[in-house]
Parts: sequence; structure tokens; C-alpha cells
Amino acid sequence: MIDKRQFLKGAGAAVLAALAPARVSAQSNAPRLTMPPLLDATKTGRFALRAGAGQVSFLGSVASDTWGFNAPYLGPVLRVPHQGEVQAQIENALAEDISVHWHGLIIPGDVDGGPMQPIAPQGAWSPVLPIDQPPATIWYHSHIHERTAAHVQKGLSGVIHLVDGRDQERGLPTEYGVDDLTLVLQDRRADPSGRVTYAPSMHDRMMGFEGDIVLVNGQFGAQAVVPRGIVRLRLLNGSNARIFVLGMDDGRLLHLIATDSGLLDQPTSLEFLTLAPGERAEVLVDFGDGLDAALISGPSPNTGLGLAAPVMPFRVDDTLTPRITSLPTGLGGSRPDLPESGALRREFSLDMRMGMGMMMGGGLTINGASYDMNTVNFTAERGQVEHWVVNGAMMMHPFHVHGVAFQVLRENGGPPRDQNIGWKDTVLINGQAELLMRFDHPASPALPYMYHCHILEHEDGGMMGQFAVD
Ligand code: C2O
Ligand code: CU
Ligand code: CU
Repeated sequence: MIDKRQFLKGAGAAVLAALAPARVSAQSNAPRLTMPPLLDATKTGRFALRAGAGQVSFLGSVASDTWGFNAPYLGPVLRVPHQGEVQAQIENALAEDISVHWHGLIIPGDVDGGPMQPIAPQGAWSPVLPIDQPPATIWYHSHIHERTAAHVQKGLSGVIHLVDGRDQERGLPTEYGVDDLTLVLQDRRADPSGRVTYAPSMHDRMMGFEGDIVLVNGQFGAQAVVPRGIVRLRLLNGSNARIFVLGMDDGRLLHLIATDSGLLDQPTSLEFLTLAPGERAEVLVDFGDGLDAALISGPSPNTGLGLAAPVMPFRVDDTLTPRITSLPTGLGGSRPDLPESGALRREFSLDMRMGMGMMMGGGLTINGASYDMNTVNFTAERGQVEHWVVNGAMMMHPFHVHGVAFQVLRENGGPPRDQNIGWKDTVLINGQAELLMRFDHPASPALPYMYHCHILEHEDGGMMGQFAVD
């Protein structure tokens, strides 16, 4: 196994290069990557999603049973204004309860869509989402107690672009599917026939379920075709457990422009980007040299398991007119600077009891307790800045909090990693992270917010808690 701390500290590029498969060249016969359908709610202020079953042949001709929203697998990209009320309309055409949680939307608990808000088979849910936060790339997914991992594997998730219409002024790529690409990264396992399967073993429940093939927007082996200029990648790690350590195979930089909860003040150049389940990042990649390149990932820092192929090759098409050819300097986003003094301190420890404890259930806990739907673990106060000290045992855990964007104050006592300088709602805990946050919306004890590990087998196994905001 690779040294985890070294991985996250800076020798990353070398590590990545050493682990990378030989340079992958783009192939003219590979299928072209497609984007999820775009559902634009900026004019109408409403959108409708219908969860249903389908079939997809991911590899070869054998079909896998899948679920999706308005599609056999995954859901549309919803383009939604960053301010104002949006009417959502969800229908459940599946044979079991689902929910739709807006991972990254900072909205009250009564419309958050967590495990307390199941939508029954043939049922519907029509929340009005009162949105008021900076533009960002957001995730939506089913969040049923003990079933989130299975639901997300099956395909019940999608992406939201929260927009303010000003990206052109910012000098950012905005052409959907041309120079503004949405990439949902998900690892999967396939049986010898090519059918994608999910049958987690005891080991998978402990370490998280990882596969060795990667789907991008539900496609296997696709390649992106891009103009000879600056391309924006809106990356979502929609995997159950795999942590991607992303970089370009020729060493070209990833220019980070946005973290989970929105734009940075200026781009930050990264040789590699660690993206854990639930995290989003927007990066610019410069293809102005006209050369093809591939996005690759090192092996999982938690298990050492690699991927069978690069994440995705990019082919530059000279017939596409590049719109953006230089990196923007100012992005107009903000660096979080919540006050540490006077903050209310809380400690969380993400624990794993292996062996018997695990076998008997109750092995995955936060502060010694497994998630209990009937227990509200604490109540926070609106407007109060909180200082959360989060420790993770045994392995790396992506820690997510509903209803808020937080600042990563420190990691293992030092400054946050470069990729964590912006507003976040999910952070990979590799030892300890300290977070500053302030809750501005209410969440009742009946419809509380969740905090949990976003390795979905851990979340379903009990590494989750819930809290109200008064
Ligand atoms: Cu991505 Cu509790 O959720
Ligand atoms: Cu969430
Ligand atoms: Cu975990």
C-alpha cells in the first residue's frame, strides 16, 4: 500500500506519475463522451424528475439493470438559478422508497430530502427549494436509511449547476458539453459477461465497495472531444467509496476554480487533485497546445486498488472554435474566513470496530454510536459559528455535513491542502480536520440534517448522525 500521508502532501505528482499507466493516446474509434441531458430551470423556476428502472449495456452487449431519473441511468443536469425559489416535482415509479437529497444546497431541513423524507412507490414529493448561495456544482441523490449505497450504485443521482449567468464576464467556459464538461466519475465492478454488479461482501462493507472500471456519465471507455483552448471540467465523485487521485497523464496542470460550494477568488494550479465520494471540483485544463491527453487516477489511497484504464482520454478537435484561450485571473468567488474565536467546539470521531464488532453490526460509528433514526444527536443554534474537530480512524473518510458550507481551518494541525482552501461541504479526513461553519437555516428535530462519512457502505452501516438547528 502507498503511504497515505505522502499521497496527500505534495510528492503527489511523482507518486501519480509512477503509478500511472503508460501514456494513453486518444483513439479516433472510441465512442464520444456525451453529457447528461440538460434541464434548464432558469426561466421556468421548476423541474420534474421521475425515478424509474431501466437497462444499460455498459460493457459489451450484456445489459445491466439500472435506475435513473428521466433516464435509464443517472439523471439530467439541472441548471438552476443560485437565488430564488425553485419548484421541484419528484415522482417515484420504482417499487421501493427513495428520497432526493440536494447534496450541497444550503436549504432548510424540511426540504433537504434526507432519510426522514422517503417517497413511497407511486408517490410524489414537491418541495419548493429556497435557494440563496453562490454558484456551484451540486449533487442530488437518493438517501434512504441503509439503502443509499444500493440506490446510488443503481443510478439514482445527478448534477445541478447553480448559476448566476455571469460566467462569460468571468472569462469561464460556458458552452455545455463543448468547453464546459460535466463529468460524473463512478467506479464499478462487472462480472465476466460485462454485467455491472453490486453485491458487497463483509470486506466491502468495512473498506467501502470499490470497482476496477470507471464510468464517466454512465459511459465506459468514452473519450471527450474538446476545442483547442481552455476546457472546464465540473468533476463529481459519484462513487460509493473510491477516492480518485486525479491528474493528467502528460503532467499538464489542473487549474482549480471551484470547490464543493463555489468559486475561488482566483485559480489555483494543482498537479493532482484528490476527489473523494461526494466532493465536487471545477478545474480548467488548457488544451491550447493542440495535444491529446488523458485524465488518469492513482490507485485508491484506502485499498491500493487501481483502475483498469485511464479515467478519460481527451482528443483535441481543431475544427471546434475555442472560445476561451487564456486562464482568467479573478474569479469573483471568496475565501472563507469565519472567526475561530468564540466558535463553539464539537468533536467527532469516525470509528471502525473491526472483527466481531463489525460482524455483529454496530461496528461503524461516530462518537461511539451508530446512526439511529430516533435519536437527534445535538441541536445547533442558528448564527453561531461552530468549530468541528473531526478525527477519522483506520482509513480515510470523506466527511459531509448537510445544510451548510464550511471552511477547512486546519488539517492535522497545519494549513489546509491547496485544494481545500475554498468553501466545502465534504472533506476527506486523513487523520484530523478542523472545520468552521455557521448554520443559517432551521432544521427541526423531526426533519434534521445529517452528518456522515460519504463512503456509502459506511454511511449505511451507521457512520452517520443527525442534528437539529434552532
Ligand atoms: Cu451526499 Cu447525506 O449526502
Ligand atoms: Cu448532503
Ligand atoms: Cu468512512
